[in-house]
Amino acid sequence: MSSEPSSRIIPVPPFDYLVFGATGDLTRRKLIPALYHRFLDGQFDERSRIIGISRTPWDDDKFRQVAREAVETSAQETYRDEAVIERFLRCFSYVPNDPRDRDHWADLSGHLREDADVVRAFYLAVAPSVFAPICTYLSEMGYARRDSRLVLEKPLGHDLASSRQINEAVGRVFAEDQVYRIDHYLGKETVQNLLTLRFANTLFEPIWNSAHIDHIQLTVSETIGTEGRAYYDQSGALRDMVQNHLLQLLCLVAMEPPPSDEANALRDEKRKVLRSLRPIVGEDVARLTVRGQYTGVTSDNARVPGYLEELESGEPSETETFVAVRAEIENWRWKGVPFYLRTGKRLANKVSEIVIQFRAIPHSIFTYAEGSPRPNRLVIRLQPDEGVRLFLMIKDPGPGGMRLRQVPLNLSFAETFSARMPEAYERLLLDVIRGNQTLFMRRDELESAWAWIDPIRKAWDESDEPLPAYTVGTWGPTASVALIERDGRTWHEANDDAKPL
Ligand SMILES: NC(=O)c1ccc[n+]([C@@H]2O[C@H](COP(=O)([O-])OP(=O)(O)OC[C@H]3O[C@@H](n4cnc5c(N)ncnc54)[C@H](OP(=O)(O)O)[C@@H]3O)[C@@H](O)[C@H]2O)c1
Repeated sequence: MSSEPSSRIIPVPPFDYLVFGATGDLTRRKLIPALYHRFLDGQFDERSRIIGISRTPWDDDKFRQVAREAVETSAQETYRDEAVIERFLRCFSYVPNDPRDRDHWADLSGHLREDADVVRAFYLAVAPSVFAPICTYLSEMGYARRDSRLVLEKPLGHDLASSRQINEAVGRVFAEDQVYRIDHYLGKETVQNLLTLRFANTLFEPIWNSAHIDHIQLTVSETIGTEGRAYYDQSGALRDMVQNHLLQLLCLVAMEPPPSDEANALRDEKRKVLRSLRPIVGEDVARLTVRGQYTGVTSDNARVPGYLEELESGEPSETETFVAVRAEIENWRWKGVPFYLRTGKRLANKVSEIVIQFRAIPHSIFTYAEGSPRPNRLVIRLQPDEGVRLFLMIKDPGPGGMRLRQVPLNLSFAETFSARMPEAYERLLLDVIRGNQTLFMRRDELESAWAWIDPIRKAWDESDEPLPAYTVGTWGPTASVALIERDGRTWHEANDDAKPL
């Protein structure tokens, strides 16, 4: 298929990007490599500035050295161009500063340009407990202009109340149209492609409802564990993955067609989905949710560190590393269609995908020997091997009479388009500069998601039931299989595609 360039590069206006938390992992692993690729493609040049701010006493040279290492370790060799890297590093400077110490804030005026044509953005790659002082001091010192933008990283709270507190502190300085809450899943190419698939084709929308769709599955699984990260123990899979990534994906799958792709038009529709989710409260929590924690045993009986052993504290912990939920959306389009969500660590496979399972045909004209037609299935794979596959029934080619076979119509992005798949942060970082909030969460969306999550968390906290353990390298606790099989359905596994009829 075509290997023509699949997108045009439209340069963004010059910017001053102030990155709080510049010495951290996120800046090094995600933000700098993403900015490098956009620079390499000519989307911005040396007229833009990337100003790192952290307490560690680095200088410009040290920050540039770290940035160089970040590029050299992340970019594939074909994309490493010494002359470009040199020019890219000229954008970088560094200011040592403790953003919580009002009396000793560094003077940033020499770093920030007053020119209205230069976009000013503040990226808070720090813990949310530092958001409020940063916003307050940015305002008090006159650095926060009405047209500047603020980017917030997750976690945006651990429940509705704490999320409101963060939003209120931020909202005292920045208006909602200045705030960009990152959920990097929304920056993934396939997620954006889901919108195109649904709303730029006539094929799917007429059948995108309970009359034609049997159920929908959303899976985000990882093979790695938490590696002892202390923050995870405070959140767990429900807060860390379901509240944001999985619910955002569910919104994009389930929302009504918005009138346009303008940010608020889209976010209005996502919010409606969140508000239509049937609350899971009280006794329903045990029936419709499953949680689990990985043990120190693998599926082939080898010993590995379990979740508790990986925790540095060595304390007992009731934090779930696996969640499965059977959700329902109460509106005309989706009444009676279950949405099965699952996510976890140390599972059998690393995969993020959305599976749309269509209904079975009403009547088969084929004999038992010819095979029974399987329902169509649309699989939208976010990672790895981003792409879309539509499973259809065909006649097995060749002589030998009629024999039914299911095959995927495969739109593998890597195979179809020769262009490199951009990382989510590349799109999102420059959307901030473009002033496009479409792929960022609005405050009311975030709060509606928490409002749905909180009762589940509360019921778990109050439950006397022990937290189920699961074996490393499996698909989680057996109760997760039971959750879907009770309804006469099964989880889609990647290798299902190869199964004979
Ligand atoms: N890493 C990821 O992939 C990722 C993904 C999504 C979200 N996040 C979120 O993004 C934030 C940063 O993550 P990270 O992984 O980069 O963390 P990290 O490696 O621990 O870095 C934290 C950064 O915050 C600064 N910092 C720490 N304590 C501070 C304080 N009290 N006041 C001011 N600055 C402080 C640190 O710099 P100094 O000590 O030099 O000040 C450092 O630059 C976290 O909230 C995390 O949950 C990270």
